[in-house]
Amino acid sequence: MDGNGRWAARRGLPRVEGHRRGVEAVRRAVELAGEAGVRYLTLYSFSAENWTRPAQEVADLMGLLKHFVRKDLGTLHRNGVRVRVIGERAGLPADIVGVLEEAETLTRANTGLTLVVAFNYGGRQEIARAARTLAEEVAAGRLAPQDVTVERLSAALDTRDIPDPDLVLRTSGEQRISNFLPWQSAYSELVFLPDLWPDFGREAFAKALAEYACRERRFGGLGAGTL
Ligand code: IPE
Ligand code: MG
Repeated sequence: MDGNGRWAARRGLPRVEGHRRGVEAVRRAVELAGEAGVRYLTLYSFSAENWTRPAQEVADLMGLLKHFVRKDLGTLHRNGVRVRVIGERAGLPADIVGVLEEAETLTRANTGLTLVVAFNYGGRQEIARAARTLAEEVAAGRLAPQDVTVERLSAALDTRDIPDPDLVLRTSGEQRISNFLPWQSAYSELVFLPDLWPDFGREAFAKALAEYACRERRFGGLGAGTL
C-alpha cells in the first residue's frame, strides 16, 4: 500500500489525511479480495523501517491501526474474516499489541478470507529471527545442522501457516519490494500499478488481476507450450 503521502501532497493536505483515506482503501481491498475468492490477503501496514519517519507520523499510523481495529473488527468478524498478524511484536507499544491480539483471538476460528496484517514487519528481520530459532535448536542438540532446510526455515517464519503469495501488488509506481515477504515471494508474480493507494478500488484491482492472468508461471520448470 504505497502513495498515501503523495495522494495528500497533491491536494495540499497533511500526510495523515492520505493515511486516513488509505484506511478506506483497505476496506475496499478486503471486500474486493473476498468477493474475488482470494483466500489470503496480506497488507503491508507498517514496516520495520517506518520507525524512521517523523514521530508524529508514526503516532498517526499507530492511531489509525487502533481506530481501524476498533471500528472494523466487528464487521470483519461477522463476514468470517480471520485476522493474522506477522512482524515483530517485541518492542511495540502495549496498546498496539493488545489490539493486534484482540483481532487475532476474536477471529481465530473464522473460515473466510485470511487477512494478514504485516505490522512492524521486515522480511530480513523475519528471516533472521527464524534463523535464530533454528540456531537455538541446534545449540540445544535438538536439531542437526544438516536438517536446516528450506522447509524448516519456512516453518520457523511468521508465515509458517500461510501459503506463499501468488501475486504481490504495489501501488504508486514504485518498483521495489522494500523488504516485503522476500523469502515467500521468490516465485510470486509482481505487479506494479501507478495508482496511489487511497485511489485503490475495483478498477485498480481488476487491472492487477488482468495483468496476473496474462503471466505464465513456470516455477523454474518449462512452460506448458514448450516442445
Ligand atoms: C504508504 O504510503 C503508507 C504506509 C507507510 C503504510 P506512504 O506514506 O509511503 O506514501 P508516499 O510514499 O509518501 O506517497
Ligand atoms: Mg511510500
